[in-house]
Amino acid sequence: MKYKNINEETLKNMVAQDFFEKFDCTEIIKNIDFSIKQKTDALLAEKYFLWAEAKASATDLLTMLTQLILTIGKSKITDHLIPPPFLGCFDPNKIAFVEFSEIMDIFTLNDFNWNVTPSNTGTKEFKYIYEKLKKLIDHNLYIFDFEKEASELKTFIKNNFVIGKTETNKIQITKNNFTWVYAKWNKEVKSTIGVEDWDLAKQNGIFDLDFYLADLLSRENLSLKEKLNIVLKHTHYEVKPEKARIGLFKSYIIDFNDGQKVHRQFWTKYERPPLEVYWDYIVDRRDLLVPQDIRERKGSFFTPQIWVELSQKYIADVFGEDWQDNYYVWDCAAGTGNLLVGLTNKYRIYASTIDQADVNVMHERIKDGANLLDDHVFQFDFLNGSFDELPPSLKNVIKNEPEKLIVYINPPYAEAGSKKSRTGILRHKAGVATGNKTHNKYFSKMGKARNEIFAQFLTRIYFELKGCKIGEFSTQKALVGPNFKDFRKFFFTEFKKGFVVPANSFDNVKGKFPIGFKIWDTRDGNHFENAIFDVYNADGSYYGQKIYHDGPECLYINDWFRQFHDKKNISIGILHNNKNDFQTCNQVRIASKDIKDHTTPITKNNLLKVCIYLTVRKVIPATWLNDRDQFLFPNDSWINDIEFQTDCLTYTLFHNSNNISSKHGINHWIPFTAEEVNARTRFESSFMTDFINGKVKPDKNGIFDFTVETVARDEAITSVPINIGQSQGLPLQFSSRAKAVFKVAAELWKYYHCQPNCNVNASFYDIREYFQGRDEQGKMKNNSDDAEYNKLLGDLRLEMKFLTLQIEPKIYEYEFLKSCIKYWSN
Ligand SMILES: C[S@@+](CC[C@H](N)C(=O)[O-])C[C@H]1O[C@@H](n2cnc3c(N)ncnc32)[C@H](O)[C@@H]1O
Repeated sequence: MKYKNINEETLKNMVAQDFFEKFDCTEIIKNIDFSIKQKTDALLAEKYFLWAEAKASATDLLTMLTQLILTIGKSKITDHLIPPPFLGCFDPNKIAFVEFSEIMDIFTLNDFNWNVTPSNTGTKEFKYIYEKLKKLIDHNLYIFDFEKEASELKTFIKNNFVIGKTETNKIQITKNNFTWVYAKWNKEVKSTIGVEDWDLAKQNGIFDLDFYLADLLSRENLSLKEKLNIVLKHTHYEVKPEKARIGLFKSYIIDFNDGQKVHRQFWTKYERPPLEVYWDYIVDRRDLLVPQDIRERKGSFFTPQIWVELSQKYIADVFGEDWQDNYYVWDCAAGTGNLLVGLTNKYRIYASTIDQADVNVMHERIKDGANLLDDHVFQFDFLNGSFDELPPSLKNVIKNEPEKLIVYINPPYAEAGSKKSRTGILRHKAGVATGNKTHNKYFSKMGKARNEIFAQFLTRIYFELKGCKIGEFSTQKALVGPNFKDFRKFFFTEFKKGFVVPANSFDNVKGKFPIGFKIWDTRDGNHFENAIFDVYNADGSYYGQKIYHDGPECLYINDWFRQFHDKKNISIGILHNNKNDFQTCNQVRIASKDIKDHTTPITKNNLLKVCIYLTVRKVIPATWLNDRDQFLFPNDSWINDIEFQTDCLTYTLFHNSNNISSKHGINHWIPFTAEEVNARTRFESSFMTDFINGKVKPDKNGIFDFTVETVARDEAITSVPINIGQSQGLPLQFSSRAKAVFKVAAELWKYYHCQPNCNVNASFYDIREYFQGRDEQGKMKNNSDDAEYNKLLGDLRLEMKFLTLQIEPKIYEYEFLKSCIKYWSN
């Protein structure tokens, strides 16, 4: 169940958020539970798309709809509001829609008592509407399971809740997707057809696909194509007399064993028949309709079907609907051939893989109907083998028309030669992908990327199949990872189109990072600079778009920060600054103790830069989508933004990554004076308040007066001023948001200083530790038993949230991050 143990209000909010985000769902009209209307400006007339009944526990659809109709009738709401094109209902499992026009008649009933209580299922009025509704909508209810059919539901909403649209929009069946629709039909509809023994039927030349074709190509009780063995009459199938052998079927008629319920439901989502241009093709290519269980029967199953299907759609978008007739396809890391399922032109498909056992499985699958040619399926170690070993026809393509070749792969990841590398995407270990010919040959060119098997595949393809197209699944490291800098210096290809999906939607992959499908043309291109990717959630629903940036001159945040290393002045703490990507953000913190591993001393000279560094790394939460994004060397605009700098100081002082503790030496980070927080004695160090008040000044030339280890942009450094206030000995200037943080934080400090056994020099970390204590593992707990402290901490966290919102856009503006997301807006 998608929405478990929640009340009706929460259910409505969650459904609104998950599926109707771009609509206005806030209005409650009379007693109608849920309404959807366009987000619009006040001048336009209100336009509703849906009125719906909601129930917090699983409820019969007709009961919910009956209640909704009685509610609408009783309120007389349709006297002054134009009803929406859809009525609907939902519970925690499912949602259903019916077109208003289908049930409109009910509202014109004469002599009907609309004054009954809609929720009372015992009234004769309720029962009357219920029965009437049952007859009217049996064929016309669009039902979606929130969990299993989220993507279909989103498509339905996108297609139908559109201004000016009156008829529903079903998914069109084309020559590129009819095999996929068949796979879904096979799962859902087949078992409801009254055939007792499918094996026996098969022996007599009747296959389940005959019923699918009947569904596709029957209209008004007639077959649209002569070659069909079975025709769909409205409520049952009819078998061609010569196929209906005695003993196999009792008559020519085959019924549904569920009264056709599932069948009707299924076909509410797809348009049938397909456009006439596809009819011949579909009938001629019935051989492509091979059930999924035969494909999955043996061997590995790597790329999930949903992404295989989507990747083929993307290839068709780039190379045209007839791409399979115009190009050759080679999967040179084919495994058992899973990626090639759904492709139609076996004469143009080649599949090779390292393990003979997998080749054998593919050959067996060919016997079971897989759409491949025996001679085009062969054992070949792509990283070691010579192209002389390839089938002559493939060699011919490589030699004479490489631009017609699409290398379509989900290459292996991680450890070369180990068993693990063949079972899915694993994490990289330096030095393990060594020893093959490709690695040795391109060793010096590839830099650190040479350790990745997928990079070796791409490198050999790039140099030795020059001119071809590539459609490949891999992590996004090749685009933006620092280890791929050298790789990007030669992999000059034109990015055509691509999408990213969560890695853990793949078999055997656990991490939260994106896997991208990328289409490249190796004929043209330059150094990769940027590319827009579509983003999909694990269930296949569309999420938005994301831009990936790099470029030959790309420098990272640690390159920028290196300028501010100060080994001369007194250290007031240590910054832990590891790597440049989101993956490592949780390691970034300030502390008192130097563990001398990716640490940098903090001094009066670089304090503000440290705070900028920490803030930039912390403000935006890491997700599966941004996991591999790199923080960059910013542009110079941050330099004159004093409020940004003091916002970052504020953020750092009161953030949980501030691990400064008085236990490890003098605490220089107390943000208040002793008077401000009613401390019992003076503090050991007033560094922070002095700094804030302009009394501690960075060295004369700001950042010049210490060791500067820059890698680049030395001139930029000379123009970096310290905070303007500071240089003149004036107090720092703070934004009103930052001041609000200080205000609530002061209350927290004051409360701590009232405690009988408080430590006068306590840091924020010490205060948290005092109240929150530690669990059995020694980890600091999240909250305290002290209600007043929890309240004060809650106030502080809230103000910090507001501050975060103020800082976030500047991280993009100053280009610490460039890979931003464009949300779906249509
Ligand atoms: C991630 S799987 C992809 C399998 C399948 N094409 C799919 O998409 O589901 C990678 C496949 O490449 C094969 N492989 C590993 N090293 C190879 C090599 N050097 N040459 C050819 N195939 C290799 C593995 O055995 C594995 O089946």
